[in-house]
Amino acid sequence: MKVDISRDPKLSKLDHLFALVPEKTADINVSPDLAGIVKQAIDDSGFEGRTDESITILAEQPRKVTLIGLGKPDSLNIRGVRAALYNVAKIAKKHHDRTIAVVAPFALPKLDGRDPRVLAEYLAAADYKYDTYITQNKDKKSGPIAATLVVTEGTDSKAIRRDQKEAQAIADAVRTVRDLGNAPGNLATPAFIARRAEEVAKEVGVKCTVHGRAAIEKMKMGGLLAVNRGSAEEPRFIVLEYAPRRAKQHVALVGKGITFDSGGISIKPSEKMEEMKFDMCGAAAVIGTIQAAARLEIPVKITGLIPSTENLPGGRAYKPGDIITMMSGKTVEVVNTDAEGRMILADALHYASKLKPNHILDYATLTGACVVALGSEAAGLFSNNDELAQKLIECGERVGERLWRLPEWDSYKDLIRSEWADMKNSGGRWGGASSAALFLKEFVNCPSWAHLDIAGTAYAEGENAREPKGATGAGVRVTIEFLQSLLR
Ligand code: BES
Ligand code: MN
Ligand code: ZN
Repeated sequence: MKVDISRDPKLSKLDHLFALVPEKTADINVSPDLAGIVKQAIDDSGFEGRTDESITILAEQPRKVTLIGLGKPDSLNIRGVRAALYNVAKIAKKHHDRTIAVVAPFALPKLDGRDPRVLAEYLAAADYKYDTYITQNKDKKSGPIAATLVVTEGTDSKAIRRDQKEAQAIADAVRTVRDLGNAPGNLATPAFIARRAEEVAKEVGVKCTVHGRAAIEKMKMGGLLAVNRGSAEEPRFIVLEYAPRRAKQHVALVGKGITFDSGGISIKPSEKMEEMKFDMCGAAAVIGTIQAAARLEIPVKITGLIPSTENLPGGRAYKPGDIITMMSGKTVEVVNTDAEGRMILADALHYASKLKPNHILDYATLTGACVVALGSEAAGLFSNNDELAQKLIECGERVGERLWRLPEWDSYKDLIRSEWADMKNSGGRWGGASSAALFLKEFVNCPSWAHLDIAGTAYAEGENAREPKGATGAGVRVTIEFLQSLLR
């Protein structure tokens, strides 16, 4: 939905007013008119503000007031607020509201006054639904919703305009990522991802170069070519370049673009295999992040690198036992064709290293092991640089995208040692997320690199308290926050 930020929305134009209130809320620090309405509603209904408590009251202007509880003030965090905002969108849709306002009278810890932006971006993304291919019984009554996030009276107009612009750009980027991720594998092929990257690049004035098979062969990207062998779809290597004139730093973003992962010859069990259309969510995160960064004119040079292919078991597919010479010249013994993400990322990380950026960040739905460790609460973070890791964790904490650090110690090398080649592509089940990260590190030549394993966070297996089923947009918010933090 479209989101405005305002100190004083026009009450007569509102269909529905929402107030998110923690338990024992004393003062509601918004315009007296609004505060009066909210206080009246609380008094009349005996509303206590417990988590999951919500009450809708019929009033005069606006006609409907809904109170949503946030629970105890000291356990208040962004993830709780996100759930409440998701609820707002659901209730507004059910009521067929067109114009709503949201009052959130509290400050969140660690946000240093940037609450309006973070709340507005989550609100803007809260009504997302991927219904492109629903042709029957589509909900026609609920149209587009225009929302106003109400801020305290003291907020200055410049901050409001900035927050609004940032929130809209980030929410639009999250939509780009979700639409790409949710698109079915028969549609979202490597060529399709490349076309979308070109469209987005054109829209925001970024350079985009798409390399096809011939160019990939010329660059000797052995990993990407090996994985592609079993597929009838041509591979792509996509390069996005956002180079603002005032840039002081250069960041390379690398995203895994497997448009469908069947496992290849080491084929996956069929249960939930349909979820492997999401195996390009890292690629989507890179495209979305560059879209937002360019729209916000963040003065950091960004190069986006996306290796993309399907992983299928066709007649010419790569096989266990094959030895592949990668772009870097290192050799890899394939022991499991389902460990394909690291094969294509290795070439992209080598390519990124040659550009000598200040930082390399990669995004990949890389291992089931990471999902076993962290579930969907956090992405796995691996880095060769403590300062970078700490910074990313803090950025994620601020915008509600949790990262949890896991090790990529050299001692995991034993797991991927090969008798036949420089290394093998899988270290087995134990420590699977770490041995995968260590494999990637073998191809990184940059003192400030981080790998985000988003296998558990890139998509929701079903609807949860914060979002609908499907792609979540993971990666965009934390990366924009990181890019902005480089300027502070
Ligand atoms: N794309 C998968 C990882 C994945 C699993 C993402 C579940 C999301 C949910 C990846 O390519 C993969 O198959 N990894 C293997 C690695 C193993 C063969 C070493 C895995 O995790 O089982
Ligand atoms: Mn796989
Ligand atoms: Zn995969």
